[in-house]
Amino acid sequence: MRVVSGIQPTGNLHLGNYLGAIKQWVAMQDAMEAGDECLFFLADLHALTVSIDPRELAANTVEMAATLLAAGIDPDRSVLFNQARVPAHSELGWILGGTARIGWLNRMTQWKDKAGKNREGASVGLFTYPVLQAADVLAYQATHVPVGDDQKQHLELARDIATKFNTDFGVDLFTLPEPFVSKSAPRIMSLRDGGAKMSKSDPSDMSRINLSDPDDAIAAKFRKARTDPDPLPADPAALDARPEARNLVTIYAALADQSVEAVLATHAGQGFGVFKPALADLAIARLGPIRDRMAALLGDRSAVGAVLSRGAERARELAAPTLHAAQRAVGLQL
Ligand code: TYM
Repeated sequence: MRVVSGIQPTGNLHLGNYLGAIKQWVAMQDAMEAGDECLFFLADLHALTVSIDPRELAANTVEMAATLLAAGIDPDRSVLFNQARVPAHSELGWILGGTARIGWLNRMTQWKDKAGKNREGASVGLFTYPVLQAADVLAYQATHVPVGDDQKQHLELARDIATKFNTDFGVDLFTLPEPFVSKSAPRIMSLRDGGAKMSKSDPSDMSRINLSDPDDAIAAKFRKARTDPDPLPADPAALDARPEARNLVTIYAALADQSVEAVLATHAGQGFGVFKPALADLAIARLGPIRDRMAALLGDRSAVGAVLSRGAERARELAAPTLHAAQRAVGLQL
């Protein structure tokens, strides 16, 4: 098993990142057996595809690395690094740019959403973003890629690129990566709008729980979360037409490691005046210790930097054979 996944070091990590991705990363790391490898990285090269403040990028990268460590990524068992320190990502990304088709990239929903109406004004990097993402996983022969639902399309593209490369060059080089989308929390929605995903780019901070939020902010955000006036139903199917209610129940279930059915069995009949404080208490109990460990780790930023350097060294070793094989396949090495 080769587990590979990444996260962009822009803004804060939020509850959607945690429940949709990082909780699975930690679970996969903890289930690892001899011979397996887990690699997790801060996708700082991907962050360059939208406008960023150069002074903030490096600081954000270290802060996010601290959050991942605080959330349970163990650098003695997993390889934790930032993408820019492993040139194989960019080099393989360029090679795969010869294989990926413009038509494939044009269909990517993240590209369409992020570029919006102003495609001509979007960066070239934003368009070719999924090619670099394909290189991120193919460079390590990833078998398992734990991601939220929104990244599934990019992984399917990585599989298409891998298949076309293997066919075009008559090699059996790239392993087809399998996306692993969390069953309990595939897509956590905004607390202000049950139709939009929780996102770090939402201008309203009330729409998301950040992993750095103090307890009173967590409680206030859940208290003010948009809901409807009805009590919670006993039957999960009755949540289908109630996206905000469904989101809060999903969050509760994922945080408590329970099924939605089990949560409803306990809370059916309750109004949100009762359910929201229970949810806030649970979230504070789960997220508070992560936030406190993160603050402690950030007391020594150079130690976090050292973890990333060590991870990058190992990642460079692991990526080298595949990069060299790809270079040979396309005729870049004599
Ligand atoms: P990013 O930084 O947007 O998000 C990191 C991870 O969090 C998941 N996620 C969510 N899951 C559930 N509900 C939500 N509201 C939610 N918001 C975010 C994302 O699906 C993701 O798993 N392109 C990637 C980073 C990346 C990557 C990779 C991932 C770069 N290279 C290679 C996997 C493999 C991204 O922007 O994720």
